[in-house]
Amino acid sequence: MTDLWWKSAVVYQIYPRSFADADGDGMGDLRGIIEHLDHLAGLGVDVLWLSPIYPSPQDDNGYDISDYQNIEPIFGTLEIFDELLAGVHARGMKLIMDLVVNHSSDEHPWFADSRSSLSSDKRDWYWWRPAREGMEPGTPGAEPTNWGSAFGGSAWEYDEKTGEYYLHLFSKKQPDLNWENDEVRSAVYDMMNWWLDRGVDGFRMDVINMISKDVSLPDGRLTAGSSYGDGSPAYINGPRIHEFLQEMHAKVFAGRDAMLTVGEMPGVTVDEAKLFTDPARGEVDMVFQFDHVWADRGDDPWQLVPLQLTKLKAIFNRWQAGLAEVGWNSLYWNNHDQPRAVSRYGDDSPQFRVASAKMIGTVLHLHRGTPYVYQGEELGMTNYPFRTIADFRDIEALGHYAQAVDREGRTPEEVLTVLRARGRDNARTPMQWNSSANAGFTTGTPWLAANPNYPEINAAAQHDDPDSVYHYYRRLIELRHNEPAVVDGDFTMLLPNDERLYAFTRRLGSTELLVIGNFSGDSVTADIDGWSDAELVLTNLPAPSGLTLAPWQSVIYRRTV
Ligand code: NOJ
Repeated sequence: MTDLWWKSAVVYQIYPRSFADADGDGMGDLRGIIEHLDHLAGLGVDVLWLSPIYPSPQDDNGYDISDYQNIEPIFGTLEIFDELLAGVHARGMKLIMDLVVNHSSDEHPWFADSRSSLSSDKRDWYWWRPAREGMEPGTPGAEPTNWGSAFGGSAWEYDEKTGEYYLHLFSKKQPDLNWENDEVRSAVYDMMNWWLDRGVDGFRMDVINMISKDVSLPDGRLTAGSSYGDGSPAYINGPRIHEFLQEMHAKVFAGRDAMLTVGEMPGVTVDEAKLFTDPARGEVDMVFQFDHVWADRGDDPWQLVPLQLTKLKAIFNRWQAGLAEVGWNSLYWNNHDQPRAVSRYGDDSPQFRVASAKMIGTVLHLHRGTPYVYQGEELGMTNYPFRTIADFRDIEALGHYAQAVDREGRTPEEVLTVLRARGRDNARTPMQWNSSANAGFTTGTPWLAANPNYPEINAAAQHDDPDSVYHYYRRLIELRHNEPAVVDGDFTMLLPNDERLYAFTRRLGSTELLVIGNFSGDSVTADIDGWSDAELVLTNLPAPSGLTLAPWQSVIYRRTV
């Protein structure tokens, strides 16, 4: 196994709360994952990534951690975790954990200590600041900066006990850790080493490009209609970010074999990513960039903009070209923060759901990079038919609704339209295992309702159907494992101006692959020469004649050049 083993790997993300509930409390758990490992091994994935399973008040579904070295009792115990890890390894897979160290929970003992007094040993472990000069602490506008938090409201919370504010880029129960402090960094590295020594195989690092802040904490630009300034220039890819990641690499990963590290990096540019993922620099193996999932939103993140295929292709092309020589891409349509891919990029109507789910999977998996499959994507699970705000559970959705409707005067219907399309709860409805009550996810009351389409869309039905989305994903993963051109081939985008076809080639030595996906409900002929004698490797529908693709069809051809 070489250092860069993850180039031919496929990662599967589990959102434990919504995956499988073995004890009937309505919440997924580790035992539930253990019971379904064969579904994952059968799909052929190489690595499992678990969203956070640590003790947590669950303000942001576990992305608010109150103890980094234990398991949330709702999910299980360290003993059950070890059993899960052994089960994963026994099936030849690896397991990576979510690392959430931009912030902790406000219920973490570090923060309890930090907020206890101005002279606490841990005061400097978080970002405490006095009120804006000349302002009365705790009054409107006295916050140290004008920054808004990701979940609505100010990014600062006033703490009466010591008369200062603490920074929280996310909810007020997620105070930001101060990475300027050496003890914070050492404590994080010790914790990471503890998990790796226990046998885990790496980390997905939550908003890791936000850990270094411009310590002068300047006010952000105010845009029309918004109550808060945009602080992100002060904390996205901040001044010490590369130094911190190199230090982490040296203290945690250097000398360990076959690890996988992926940094979640909202707002990262191609040039930055090249630095982050250059193996010679020792930072991370790959990053999650956001350009493609931000292609259908406006300057205001909550503004819906119709998706243009040409724009999407230009973004992928830029990333493929930018990391062709140095660095590596991660590839994803879906995760626990994004709506369901088939509803967003495909057509989730009964007529085209299966075809379009397979087509978008084909296009993604045939790029150069490491593909990530999010639970349920391999079944073609769809967005949920939310009726009212009462159907949502996500702190982001509830926070946005409160800000937009209660404070900014938008109509509930207008805000619900956006949340239906973009809300994170779309991805978080229970995994659809079978056609029994609650999709076989729980025998109790699920914490979030199952999508009513589970009688048709579920794993049990798809395991038995060779034409299912599940078996198609299995074949895509198998192709990556068996065809070196998928892993290492050069990438060339074709037909960049076509609004319906997504076409590209991959070339390695004398092998060339042609991939075409039809992102439309029309039958379309691709104007590409030289492939009439090529071998059809995989298609999601009956074999086409030439390069005329049926609605939502995808094809992969191979030729020797
Ligand atoms: C990114 C995570 O993916 C998201 O779910 C979470 O809310 C924020 N980071 C804060 O941890």
